[in-house]
Amino acid sequence: MQLTKRDGRVLMRVLITGGAGFIGSNLVHYLLRERPEWDLVNVDALTYAGNLENLSGIESNPRYVFVKADITDTVTMNSVFEEHRPDAVLHLAAESHVDRSILDSSPFIRTNVLGTQILLDATRAHSTDCRFVHVSTDEVYGTLGATGKFLETTPLAPNSPYSASKASSDMLVRAAHETFGMDVVTTRCSNNYGPYQFPEKLIPLMIANARDDKPLPVYGDGQQVRDWLYVTDHCSALLAVLEHGKSGEVYNIGGNNEWPNLEVVRLILEQLGKPESLIRYVQDRPGHDRRYAIDPTKLSSELGWTPSRTFERALPETIQWYIDNETWVERVRSGQYMDYFSDQYGERLSE
Ligand code: NAD
Ligand code: DAU
Repeated sequence: MQLTKRDGRVLMRVLITGGAGFIGSNLVHYLLRERPEWDLVNVDALTYAGNLENLSGIESNPRYVFVKADITDTVTMNSVFEEHRPDAVLHLAAESHVDRSILDSSPFIRTNVLGTQILLDATRAHSTDCRFVHVSTDEVYGTLGATGKFLETTPLAPNSPYSASKASSDMLVRAAHETFGMDVVTTRCSNNYGPYQFPEKLIPLMIANARDDKPLPVYGDGQQVRDWLYVTDHCSALLAVLEHGKSGEVYNIGGNNEWPNLEVVRLILEQLGKPESLIRYVQDRPGHDRRYAIDPTKLSSELGWTPSRTFERALPETIQWYIDNETWVERVRSGQYMDYFSDQYGERLSE
């Protein structure tokens, strides 16, 4: 059995928060595969975005434990750390959707800000050298014009309640390092795509609507640019940062893959053989960031990380995954989500 060591210590048990969500569930699958000597503890409150179906097949794995818990519950968080004694924390739990934060910011402040502080406190109370990897986002940098890229030194300028809550959590993580000497690392990744993404986000929403011949709501002129990264490339970057990142540092994660939204929507329609007449230009998102682009040089030069998937191959595979997993899409779109969905798009579709 090959064990991974950090600072001469065997790293064996990792606590993941938000492991039933999109990136978290992909990360659980990835780590069980890539680090067969590790134990994983997945703490997730199972909000509308958390789905245990994303993890089906691993429930009986002896190296995996699921704990249904809210990271804002101090007592429970302390008992989780007491019981499982993790060597490291990968913190992904969050409210993650910008449009929802515009409708109601309170769950974002509660989970992303308060929840992060409670988790930091529980980590510190449990162990002074437990590594804490904080999974943040490029949205904390705000927006770019037509040129340039985000560096780790770019000033934070969040424009939505979501990104402001993530920027706040980044500051709390920084403060934990500066004040208490906690072993923290923060990552800021660009837009992810791949299996198990909740179909409120651009790519799975457009695939589901196109499949059903429903309108595809493109915000504003559709010329906003996002820098897309396949989700397992995000996972491999998080593993590199967990094992080799420098304490107290920030690492940008991105694959140099910028696309205007409208082009992405057109690629989806083309693959599914659907007409462009399905596109509906709807009212723009308030405070909509025009362009994101990540400079990942620090991550690649210091930790040797490079992405392994290209958009040209991984986007068609992703589209096919959502077509093949129609029942998954329908199940997660049911219930509470549908209320939000109909309110949002009832108002926004301007046919
Ligand atoms: P997601 O919305 O798909 O999943 C979030 C998960 O967190 C869900 O399983 C949910 O149940 C859980 N959760 C929410 N509130 C909780 C609470 N109070 N206690 C415990 N669990 C809770 O999100 P995602 O897209 O997988 O994003 C994961 C992380 O990565 C987030 O921190 C997000 O800010 C960050 N991120 C996402 C992207 C992206 O493109 N999706 C890019 C960069 C960074
Ligand atoms: O950049 C990283 C961020 O990427 C993460 O921090 C967030 O958690 C994640 O949700 C994502 O944020 P975006 O706002 O960029 O993702 P979303 O899929 O919501 O939107 C992508 C782009 O598509 C954005 O410019 C808005 C546009 N859009 C989105 C939807 C849902 C549309 O034009 N129509 C839509 O219906």
